[in-house]
Amino acid sequence: MRIRPFGVEQWMNEYETRCEWNLAETCVASLSVAELLSLAGRGEDVLAELQAIRLTYGPIEGSDRLRDLIAGLYETQSRQNVLVTHGAVGANQLVHLTLVEPGDRVVSVLPTYQQHYSIPESIGADVRVVRLREENGFLPDLDELAEAAGDSAKLIAVNNPNNPTGALMDEPFLRRVAEIAERSGAWLLSDEVYRGTDQEGDGTTASVADVYRRGISTASMSKSFSLAGLRLGWVVGPADFLHAVEVQRDYNTISVGLVDDLLASVALESKDAILERSRRIVRGNLAVLDAWVAGEPLISYVKPQSGTTALLRYDLDVPSRDLCVSLVEQTGVMLTPGSALDVEGHLRIGYANDPEVLRQGLARMSGFLARPR
Ligand SMILES: Cc1ncc(COP(=O)(O)O)c(C=O)c1O
Repeated sequence: MRIRPFGVEQWMNEYETRCEWNLAETCVASLSVAELLSLAGRGEDVLAELQAIRLTYGPIEGSDRLRDLIAGLYETQSRQNVLVTHGAVGANQLVHLTLVEPGDRVVSVLPTYQQHYSIPESIGADVRVVRLREENGFLPDLDELAEAAGDSAKLIAVNNPNNPTGALMDEPFLRRVAEIAERSGAWLLSDEVYRGTDQEGDGTTASVADVYRRGISTASMSKSFSLAGLRLGWVVGPADFLHAVEVQRDYNTISVGLVDDLLASVALESKDAILERSRRIVRGNLAVLDAWVAGEPLISYVKPQSGTTALLRYDLDVPSRDLCVSLVEQTGVMLTPGSALDVEGHLRIGYANDPEVLRQGLARMSGFLARPR
């Protein structure tokens, strides 16, 4: 199968282990196992549970305990609506492979996670891209979305909260997107891997799975739960649809590791404590970033409403990749070039890492931007 290289992942692979100040990171500062157990307040008994695990393949769709906990992140879902996957990256791939056939109309917003347009393109689908624009606060223009979907789209893929812009579709907006999908007869996939990191309220906005009968939510433990190392995600959607996903999943997943399943369960049993920590980090750090942007004459942005990333516009006549390479090589600060996300003229910053890394990185970036060119 021919597929376009994954721009962001290739950039990360190239520099992530070589940089000093990682402002390309999109996870809320990751937890160690010890920190997780301490937040859960249950070190001893979890270690006993871990030792008792017999390392079989385990329950194929994920343990009942875990699937019930994942269902609990939604308003109207239960165990049979949950399928556990290898990260959200696995969840997204399975959804596209299950639904999309050559010639199908697929609509994707852009910028977004590249899987949502490059996988259907590789399958030979008729992919229509709806550009998210600054003047709309990076929300999709609904007339453009309806036109792109037409009357027979197979799938509309959105990403809410959005990576890289931090734009957030609230429930009324999401319902309008669902109406467009309904009129077109389309499935609506929302990659909700950043759900739980809103800047306002309790931090969690409605899921597409709860507002639309053909809504599919993908998400994971990686971003808002700070546990990317578990490599554990899920698809939530109608039970019949998940049976179709299982046909694909048998070929590339079998099951997810039992140790990962246990630690994800422990984390979700303490979800309030973990999400409270995440909100504290994303809200505190965005205030730091916002003050920095206000003081930088060459930088502007649309302030994120959620997520862990922002898209910075820069007022320099340099390709984004060249700028990012000079920045990382001269200062050790790593951002992500817009070119890796198909939005040239911008830089993506991940602001949810350790607050000290953010402060140090921004200070070095100020020095870099102030140099005469
Ligand atoms: C929007 C989006 N979806 C999916 C993923 C993949 O996440 P996971 O670690 O759960 O596979 C990412 C990771 O950056 C992401 O930003």
